[in-house]
Amino acid sequence: MRVLHAAAEVFPLVKTGGLADVVAALPLALAEQGADIRLLLPGLPAVMDGVQGAKTVIDIGSCFGAMRVRLLLARMPRTKLPVYVVDAPYLYRREGSPYQTVAGQEWGDNLQRFALLGWVAAHLAAGDADPRWLPDVVHAHDWHAAMACAYMAEHAASPAATVFTVHNLAFQGLFPMHDWALLGMGSHLMSPAGLEFHGQLSFMKAGLKFADRITTVSPTYAREIATTEFGCGLDGVIRDRGAAVSGVINGIDTEIWNPASDSAIANRFDAERLAGKAECRRALQTELGLVREDSALLLTVISRLTAQKGLDLLLAALPDLVTQGVQFAVQGTGEPALEAAFRMAQQAHPGKVHMHLGYDEARAHRLVAGADVIAVPSRFEPCGLTQMYGLRYGTLPVVRRTGGLADTVADGSTGFLFDEATPAALRRAVERALLARRDPAAWTALQRRAMAQELSWKEPAQQYLRLYAEARGATGPA
Ligand code: ADP
Ligand code: GLC
Repeated sequence: MRVLHAAAEVFPLVKTGGLADVVAALPLALAEQGADIRLLLPGLPAVMDGVQGAKTVIDIGSCFGAMRVRLLLARMPRTKLPVYVVDAPYLYRREGSPYQTVAGQEWGDNLQRFALLGWVAAHLAAGDADPRWLPDVVHAHDWHAAMACAYMAEHAASPAATVFTVHNLAFQGLFPMHDWALLGMGSHLMSPAGLEFHGQLSFMKAGLKFADRITTVSPTYAREIATTEFGCGLDGVIRDRGAAVSGVINGIDTEIWNPASDSAIANRFDAERLAGKAECRRALQTELGLVREDSALLLTVISRLTAQKGLDLLLAALPDLVTQGVQFAVQGTGEPALEAAFRMAQQAHPGKVHMHLGYDEARAHRLVAGADVIAVPSRFEPCGLTQMYGLRYGTLPVVRRTGGLADTVADGSTGFLFDEATPAALRRAVERALLARRDPAAWTALQRRAMAQELSWKEPAQQYLRLYAEARGATGPA
């Protein structure tokens, strides 16, 4: 089975969130199961610099407003998986995130930048970009790659099936309808039955309408996005796709996130040797200037600071929890108001609250290893990875019962769940953790159960392989 994964980001080259982790680890797990996997990425500066042995496959020439577009074939640095790179300097070689300028503005030409990605995927599927390798399935991730599904449906030149994975329905890739002509696509799709969404042009809809199979990253989120509460206006479209929509829970890279071999942390440990975790905890308190109290409950958060993540709830509960003996170690970047609020909390509670405004992978490992609990109080959470990192490191998750959080954490068994998106409900869940930690034997039992969870990509990869086979069946014999 040949599968092309098209996406905007991949760890460790370009990462703004969990999408990058998934696009790195899932293809590897699929390859380990014998599938023939290639990636397709935009030629962002870090991709151009980070891939190995790039060779030109085809000179595409000028398209989507760029004069010089080439398709390269290279290898990923760590996994050595083959990766196609769309080298379009005019569109991709710039400072900033894949989606925004350094100042946080969406790139004005995102329509062209991500239409090109989908268009190249469609040409690979049709066999006219690289006739030596034709995918059986194109697996497109999030709105950034979703146009592959529309171009493929439109041209129907390829027998390949399409699978579209929604990592976050809140980001949809909406553009003004008057830019339609830039897509090079017939006007018959300029309607609600096509890509139109409330007067705008929606890349997300390209995936939702035209993929043979739609997945999202947890079974609970798959049910949630079919409701008005979580559907972001697309719940009707999702309900219409019926049984073509399913949820496959993400795994984590259990080599990168392994407390028994993690070189980023103060001491290695596992479920049988938890003393090493206690040393990581002490090292972390020292590093962050937190009071070295064994009785404190050390709570960490590693997150984008956005409304999705519910960190305003944590801020509201924080003063009360500090007086009860909770220490906070937060790392994140995002909305300026949340950044400022956490900085103020640090100033108000010296030695009890530590805030690191920044993005730092190694530091994230030290936080996960050293903390007692990891909080993910999200309003919605398609899957969430940090609670799984917590489970693997015996750092018990305190999470809201939504999306993938509900599917990966068992209340009172491997972590602490709460229902209402209120500071009081979150506070009560943290209080339950405080209380539980007062009984060391019971706490160790919780940690061991958490650490025994199966979190690898093996089973999810098998589910995707079954889904690919189904999707191919849906498009007729390949
Ligand atoms: P989302 O993709 O919605 O941001 P996930 O939990 O799926 O949420 O993935 C977030 C990923 O980004 C995790 O790998 C997490 O460790 C990482 N991450 C988020 N913020 C930071 C940060 N400030 N420093 C290091 N890693 C971070
Ligand atoms: C998105 C979601 C997150 C998920 C990640 C990887 O960024 O917000 O919940 O874990 O994608 O699928």
